[in-house]
Amino acid sequence: MPRASYPSLAGRHVFITGGATGIGAEMVRAFAAQGARVGFIDLDAVAGAALASATGTHFTRVDATDVAALQQAIIAAGRIDVLVNNVANDTRHDPLGVSEADWRRCMAVNLDAAFFAAQAAIPPMQAHGGGAIINFSSINALLGPEGMPGYVTAKAGLLGLTKALARQYGAQRIRVNTILPGWVVTERQLAHWLTPEAEAEWARLTALKDRILPADVASLALFLAADDSAMISGQQFIIDAGRV
Ligand SMILES: NC(=O)c1ccc[n+]([C@@H]2O[C@H](COP(=O)([O-])OP(=O)(O)OC[C@H]3O[C@@H](n4cnc5c(N)ncnc54)[C@H](O)[C@@H]3O)[C@@H](O)[C@H]2O)c1
Repeated sequence: MPRASYPSLAGRHVFITGGATGIGAEMVRAFAAQGARVGFIDLDAVAGAALASATGTHFTRVDATDVAALQQAIIAAGRIDVLVNNVANDTRHDPLGVSEADWRRCMAVNLDAAFFAAQAAIPPMQAHGGGAIINFSSINALLGPEGMPGYVTAKAGLLGLTKALARQYGAQRIRVNTILPGWVVTERQLAHWLTPEAEAEWARLTALKDRILPADVASLALFLAADDSAMISGQQFIIDAGRV
């Protein structure tokens, strides 16, 4: 089924971190299809360049943990109406084996990048009378599964960041919301973790039994970016097939 169309998104300037693959790539396609002007960054130069040329969007290869480069890419975009803080790395880790450097790297990509991207995007939003920031957390921030304490901690931190920024900048019509996906079937999940056994166990725990696809998540992001959600801010939206 074609998704809803949001006239308010046409011509809006949208910036997406980690947009080359997975849910991010689907959001690049979805916002571009709404007539938005989309810029995105990613480490994956090959996938990023291919997606940009297929969608008429603007890609820059940037490591989101390089704060100066990340902020420079946002400033170079000029106007920003919508910032989607999507970048993440959910590599599994044993708590007792995590070094200080490992922990800092995990926070850098999963938490710090969202804060510093927002820091760069807020002034242009203020200059244009408002904007929308969408942070990507995870239901793992609520469930706290084993084997990824850094990721869980960072994703929980994003819930606080959403509240803090929503309160601070709401008077300037900057809205900040969080999406918490459940297990979304992306290339990376299929390659690394989504075994038939794990998927069967997941389906046993959810109310809805179909796979959650990147397009399902992109549809929610479109709504939270569009003026249709004009009075929604500081909120958390779970999209997890009824798992939580
Ligand atoms: N897929 C899921 O099941 C799921 C579940 C819960 C939450 N989420 C969240 O949704 C968002 C998107 O998830 P996804 O599964 O599409 O992620 P993914 O890991 O498949 O893709 C993330 C993108 O970020 C890029 N990236 C990674 N490190 C980077 C860096 N340092 N600098 C720049 N780019 C970098 C990757 O190349 C990739 O294109 C993430 O925030 C993730 O935590 C996903």
